[in-house]
Amino acid sequence: MLVFLLLSCCTNGEDPYRFYTWNVTYGDIYPLGVKQQGILINGQFPGPLIESVTNENLIINVFNSLDQPFLISWNGVQQRRNSWQDGVYGTNCPIPSGGNFTYTIQVKDQIGSYFYFPSLDLHKAAGGYGGLRIHSRSIIPVPFPPPAADYTILAGDWYNKNHTDLKAILDSGRELPFPDGLVINGRGANRYTFTVDQGKTYRFRISNVGIATSINFRIQGHKLLLVEVEGTHTLQNTYDSLDIHLGQSLSVLVTADQPARDYYIVASTRFTSQVLATTAVLHYSNSEVSISGPPPEGPTTQIDWSLEQARSIRKNLTASGPRPNPQGTYHYGLIKTTRTIRLASSASIINGKQRYAVNSVSFIPADTPLKLADYFNISGVFSLGIIPYAPTGGGAYLQTSVMAADHRSFVEIVFENPEDTVQSWHIDGHSFFVVGMDRGQWTPACRLAYNLRDTISRCTVQVYPKSWSAVYMAVDNVGMWNIRSENWSRQYLGQQFYLRVFSAANSWRDEYPIPRNALLCGRAIGRRTPPTGSH
Ligand SMILES: *[C@@H]1O[C@H](CO)[C@@H](O)[C@H](O)[C@H]1NC(C)=O
Ligand SMILES: *[C@@H]1O[C@H](CO)[C@@H](O)[C@H](O)[C@H]1NC(C)=O
Ligand SMILES: *[C@@H]1O[C@H](CO)[C@@H](O)[C@H](O)[C@H]1NC(C)=O
Ligand SMILES: *[C@@H]1O[C@H](CO)[C@@H](O)[C@H](O)[C@H]1NC(C)=O
Ligand SMILES: *[C@@H]1O[C@H](CO)[C@@H](O)[C@H](O)[C@H]1NC(C)=O
Ligand SMILES: *[C@@H]1O[C@H](CO)[C@@H](O)[C@H](O)[C@H]1NC(C)=O
Repeated sequence: MLVFLLLSCCTNGEDPYRFYTWNVTYGDIYPLGVKQQGILINGQFPGPLIESVTNENLIINVFNSLDQPFLISWNGVQQRRNSWQDGVYGTNCPIPSGGNFTYTIQVKDQIGSYFYFPSLDLHKAAGGYGGLRIHSRSIIPVPFPPPAADYTILAGDWYNKNHTDLKAILDSGRELPFPDGLVINGRGANRYTFTVDQGKTYRFRISNVGIATSINFRIQGHKLLLVEVEGTHTLQNTYDSLDIHLGQSLSVLVTADQPARDYYIVASTRFTSQVLATTAVLHYSNSEVSISGPPPEGPTTQIDWSLEQARSIRKNLTASGPRPNPQGTYHYGLIKTTRTIRLASSASIINGKQRYAVNSVSFIPADTPLKLADYFNISGVFSLGIIPYAPTGGGAYLQTSVMAADHRSFVEIVFENPEDTVQSWHIDGHSFFVVGMDRGQWTPACRLAYNLRDTISRCTVQVYPKSWSAVYMAVDNVGMWNIRSENWSRQYLGQQFYLRVFSAANSWRDEYPIPRNALLCGRAIGRRTPPTGSH
C-alpha cells in the first residue's frame, strides 16, 4: 500500500516495475591483496547488476548500514523530469546512517550501458558501484545478433588507502597520491574469469569506474568490435584496444575465434608516467592452456592516437536507438544553437589548500541540497548567475554556483583544458552530441571542422591536455543537474557546478513534484512536502 502511494506520482503505470531492496554495509575486501573495508551492496562488491528495459520503472529501496551518510547516483540515467532521484549532493539529502530511501527511477527513452556509484565524499574509492543496463524493447531492432552472453566489466584504479584516509588527504589541502593498482570487477590480477565457447560472440560492457586515471582496454589475440557508447549504437569498427576515460562506458562484441586456450583481458592506465595494469582471464571452455607470459602491451603513442580513435567513433545513422526510428532522423547539426557556454578547468591554491575550479569558480556545498532550497524558496543557499558563461582568466574563488539554463534551449558547450592532464566531464540528466575535439585553444573558427552529421551522443566526454572538446546539447530536462569532473578528487575539491533548467510552467509535463518520501535536511528540515502525490 505504502509502496503504491509512493509510486503514484512519478512513474508510468503502464510500464513494468522492478523492485530492489539494497542493504549497504562495510565488509572485508582484498582487491589488491590488502584487506580493506569495502562498501558492499547486499554483501556484494561490485554491487548487483541492474538489468532493465527502456521505459521500465526501477524502485530501489536503499538501506544505509554504514556509519555515515550515503547516496547512490546513476551515471548516465537521464531521470527525465525527475532530478529528485539523481542521488547527488545538490538534489538529495544524504540517507542517514541507519536510514533508507526509495529511489523511483524510470529509464525513459534510453538504452545502453551505464553504472551506478556512491556519490558522496570518496565513497567511490571503497566500491559501492555496479553495472546498469538498459536493453532495447523487444519490438525495437538492435543492429547486431544477440550475443551468446553479455558481460559487465567495471575497471578502474584502486587505492590501498581507505576512503576516509583519502578524504582526509584532500581535506588537508593536498593532492591524492598515484593509485596503487587497477581492478577489474573488484579484483586484482587474474582473479576474474570470463568463460566463452569457441566460435561464439560475446558482448562486453566496459565502464571506467576509477577515480583518477584514464584506462586502455584490450583482449589478447582478439579484436574489439565497438557497437555501443553510452546509449548510441555506433558504426561497427574494430579496434585492437580502446581508451576509456573516467566515467565512460561502451560495449564491444568479441568473437572467440582463436585457438582454444586462455587469453589476457587487460586494463592499463593511460597518459601516466608510471603505467599500472591489471588482467582478467578470457577462458575458452575447451581450453587446456592457461595464460602465460607477459600480457599484451597497450598503445605507446599518446594523445594523437587517442584523439584519432575518439574521432573514429561515430553513430550508425540507420540503426535504431530507444525508439524505432533510426538514430539519424534527429538532425542535431541543423539545429541553431541559442548559446555558447565555454567551461575551462583550472587548479589553484585557495586559503593554502589545493582546489579545482570551473571558470574560476570552485564549488563548495552548502548546508541544504540545492534542489530542495529551490523548491522550498530557501534563499541564501546558492547563487544563480555567479558562474560566468566563459572563462574570465581571473583568480579562483569558492562559491556554491548554479548556472541558469532555459528549458528547450539548444546549447553549444566547449570544454577547454589548459592543463596537462586529461579531463573527463559528465553532465547529469542529459546526453550531448560530441561535435568536435582537438588540440590547442578553441576559437569560433573551430566550428568549421565540427561533425554535424554522425557523431555519437553520450553523457561523459574527455578533454585532452591543452585541448578542447565541443558538444551540442538539447536542454530539455527541467531540474537541477550536476556538471562535474569525473576525476573524483577534482570533483570533490570544486570542479563541478549545477545547471538549473527552469520552466515557469510549473507543470507535471515539465517536472515531477517533489516525491512524498523526499528526505529533508539542512534548512529544509520541517518543511512540508505535499500530502499526496496522487493525480
Ligand atoms: C543490513 O546488513 C546488516 C549486516 O548484515 C544487518 O545487521 C542489518 O540488519 C541489515 N539491514 C537490513 C535493512 O536488511
Ligand atoms: C581507514 O583507515 C584508518 C587507519 O588508517 C582507520 O582509522 C579508519 O577507521 C579506516 N576507515 C574505514 C572506513 O575503514
Ligand atoms: C524506507 O523503507 C520503507 C519500507 O521498508 C518504506 O516504506 C519507506 O518509504 C522507505 N523510506 C523512504 C524515505 O523511502
Ligand atoms: C548500421 O545498422 C544497420 C541496421 O540497423 C546494420 O544493418 C548495419 O550493419 C550497421 N552498419 C554499421 C557499419 O555498423
Ligand atoms: C516558492 O515561490 C514560488 C514563487 O513565488 C511559489 O509559486 C511557490 O509556491 C513557492 N514554493 C513553496 C514550496 O512555497
Ligand atoms: C586527475 O586529477 C589529478 C589532480 O589534478 C591528476 O593528477 C590526474 O592526472 C587526473 N587524472 C587524469 C585522468 O588526468
